[in-house]
Amino acid sequence: MCGIVGYVGHRQALDVVVDGLRRLEYRGYDSAGVAVLTGPGSLAVERKAGRLANLENRLDEVGRGGFAGTAGMGHTRWATHGPPVDRNAHPHRDATQRVAVVHNGIIENFAALRAELEADGVELTSDTDTETVAHLVGRAYAEGPAKGDLPACLRAVCQRLSGAFTLVVTHVDEPDTIVAARRSSPLVVGVGEGETFVASDVAAFIEYTRDAVELGQDQVVTISRDGYHVTDLAGAQAPTRPFHVDWDLSAAEKGGHEYFMLKEIEEQPAALADTLRGHFVDGRIILDEQRMTDQDLRDVDKVFVVACGSAYHSGLVAKYAIEHWTRLPVEVELASEFRYRDPVLDRATLVVAVSQSGETADTLEAVRHARDQKARVLAVCNTNGAQIPRESDAVLYTHAGPEIGVASTKAFLAQVAANLMVGLALAQARGTKYPDEVAREFRELEAMPEAVAKVLGTVERVRELGRSLADSKAVLFLGRHVGYPVALEGALKLKELAYMHAEGFAAGELKHGPIALIEEGLPVVIVMPSPKGRAVLHAKMVSNISEIQARGARTIVLAEEGDETVAPFADELIEIPAVPTLLQPLVATVPLQVLSAEIARARGYDVDKPRNLAKSVTVE
Ligand code: F6R
Repeated sequence: MCGIVGYVGHRQALDVVVDGLRRLEYRGYDSAGVAVLTGPGSLAVERKAGRLANLENRLDEVGRGGFAGTAGMGHTRWATHGPPVDRNAHPHRDATQRVAVVHNGIIENFAALRAELEADGVELTSDTDTETVAHLVGRAYAEGPAKGDLPACLRAVCQRLSGAFTLVVTHVDEPDTIVAARRSSPLVVGVGEGETFVASDVAAFIEYTRDAVELGQDQVVTISRDGYHVTDLAGAQAPTRPFHVDWDLSAAEKGGHEYFMLKEIEEQPAALADTLRGHFVDGRIILDEQRMTDQDLRDVDKVFVVACGSAYHSGLVAKYAIEHWTRLPVEVELASEFRYRDPVLDRATLVVAVSQSGETADTLEAVRHARDQKARVLAVCNTNGAQIPRESDAVLYTHAGPEIGVASTKAFLAQVAANLMVGLALAQARGTKYPDEVAREFRELEAMPEAVAKVLGTVERVRELGRSLADSKAVLFLGRHVGYPVALEGALKLKELAYMHAEGFAAGELKHGPIALIEEGLPVVIVMPSPKGRAVLHAKMVSNISEIQARGARTIVLAEEGDETVAPFADELIEIPAVPTLLQPLVATVPLQVLSAEIARARGYDVDKPRNLAKSVTVE
């Protein structure tokens, strides 16, 4: 969780590092810190709890002049061990103050390491697992077989660590190098002219270079002005994967919007189009990075979709489509529950692991469990080279671009589209759909960016409605069929952005309990099925709405354009374009995103950084 950046080059490291941290703040914003090598034997460190702005104010107070130097590193934290206070902010130093370390991840055996250090008389000054690494590196550098060799020290220390980590380390006696290591947490190298970077995400350095290198598991990289050198933990030169970053800087910035999330909502037509692009060639669905043959897909006898949060909701949508198109049973499971309940998996099971970040620990562990049980895993992921796709048999990337707002918007829509493509690929390989039917379904998907753009053109009314709901105590969301996951997603957005009690229900369940919650004035959002596409469900929903309206609820109805039967039961009517039923979530989710964002803004909250949340959740 946490963002990391390191730099060695010809610029002032402090400027590069603070700029990089600004772009990585979405990874955690409990505290921030920097360390700059200011000359042989000297290291300037500053760290502060709270947002990066607090650190910047502190740097202004103490004077940035004390941080002159061309090698440095920084960190933005999402707390795991120890509360988000100054003493737990990174960088951490060893007892001699000659080593500084920043860290992303969790060192699982830190208690034993800490006890060992304390038994040797070392006084630890923070509650973190990270500080133990600083002391271990400091000692290894001062004495023992790796003495005076920073990369060798880090390699030796990493061999003693269990858990997931990215570590970046400096030592005052090595003012022109920075050393970093990774295991199960992200780290990329940026290679510029006379300057080199390490960071959790390319967004930290794309202003300076687009040439990047992906590091493998248990690799250690040493960066200097002249480039980089990568080894495994035994010290042998290790293979790496260079790649070119095609995101431009503006893609990682707000593009004129008040919040990233608002920009990301607007970007949804493009995110959908980019995700679909190139996947229907010569009359066939092509999942290009899907290293599975048609025969592999024919051998599948059961599908699990595992994911968390919004990604899980995207899986719930997919279940309706995949079962309908392929006649394969599909189970959708919260990744955090999946591996602990001994699911029935074998070689004929396809596990679709959906994750925007590709780092979510629960989903990663579900992938590992599935592969241990010999199931095949297909990752649907938005982040190139992240851990989940790396550990999967195959990957289908969504191309939503960087999503900085913590609440998922464009990544969710892209996940829905990608999951549907997985369903079509299965149907095509298994022959449960004729080629012309697959082609028609894909063409319908291709029309969705335009439908979403149309919705975006009409959301001003939803914003007004949002402002009128700002003082509500709670909001309920109801849906049936694919409208049910939309209701769950609408409720999740409202909870996380506006800190308002919100629940999503399958409308048919209302009479089995939740109807007791209905009281005078309670806003209830209802996602209507199409009156033509799902006439029976539509009629049932009309009855449900009249029941709750009769009990005093304020009904807010999302209905297909021209749906006249529902109008009398809607206190507020939000129209969405008529689209094929299985694709309706792509248009119906959008007004709910806008509604939640507007309620949150009206309540004065930062919609990009909801409290207590982080963008990628790399702890279970
Ligand atoms: C909600 C949200 C989260 C994520 C979840 C999974 O708006 O963003 O619920 O969907 O934490 O994250 P990924 O997709 O990165 O695995």
